[in-house]
Amino acid sequence: MTELVLPGDANVLGSVFGGQVMAWVDICAAITAQRHCGRIAVTAAVDDLQFLAPIRVGDIVRLTARLNEAFGSSMEIEVDVEVEDPQTRNRTLCVQAYLTFVCLDETGAPLRVPALAPRDDDDRERKRDAAERRSQRLERRRSR
Ligand SMILES: CC(C)(COP(=O)(O)OP(=O)(O)OC[C@H]1O[C@@H](n2cnc3c(N)ncnc32)[C@H](O)[C@@H]1OP(=O)(O)O)[C@@H](O)C(=O)NCCC(=O)NCCS
Repeated sequence: MTELVLPGDANVLGSVFGGQVMAWVDICAAITAQRHCGRIAVTAAVDDLQFLAPIRVGDIVRLTARLNEAFGSSMEIEVDVEVEDPQTRNRTLCVQAYLTFVCLDETGAPLRVPALAPRDDDDRERKRDAAERRSQRLERRRSR
């Protein structure tokens, strides 16, 4: 997904509102989740988000989402947010986010999603890492 940062997206310092970036991240991840499960999917969790570099008015923002793993009814989506300098086309990573989406049926109950078949070693590593993050997430959920 590509966005152009407009003055209405920015704070008084001319950098984009964090909440605007979070909304783009959520939408980009939702599209990816829904493409995989072919149904409605809702955000269940967003892992801690860090803003590594400012994004300014006039910048081009590129969001790249990827499904790391499909569990039962839940999916882990990774979103990288990069800012692209319009003149040099150089890109800087600004945010990396992990979101959990849950697929729902028409009554709002969680619905099993298709499994994700790994194609290479990178996919297998992503699946392993996603499973580890999931256990930590569920552990945090239990301890609330
Ligand atoms: C997300 C939601 C559907 C989960 O419903 P639930 O009744 O708790 O369902 P379950 O406990 O059976 O969990 C369903 C799946 O969600 C996962 N899940 C639920 N909460 C989670 C969390 N905080 N982190 C990670 N995974 C979570 C479970 O692990 C399970 O995954 P699995 O099927 O792959 O094993 C429900 O909490 C909800 O509707 N939340 C609000 C969602 C929403 O409105 N989002 C928009 C932004 S506010």
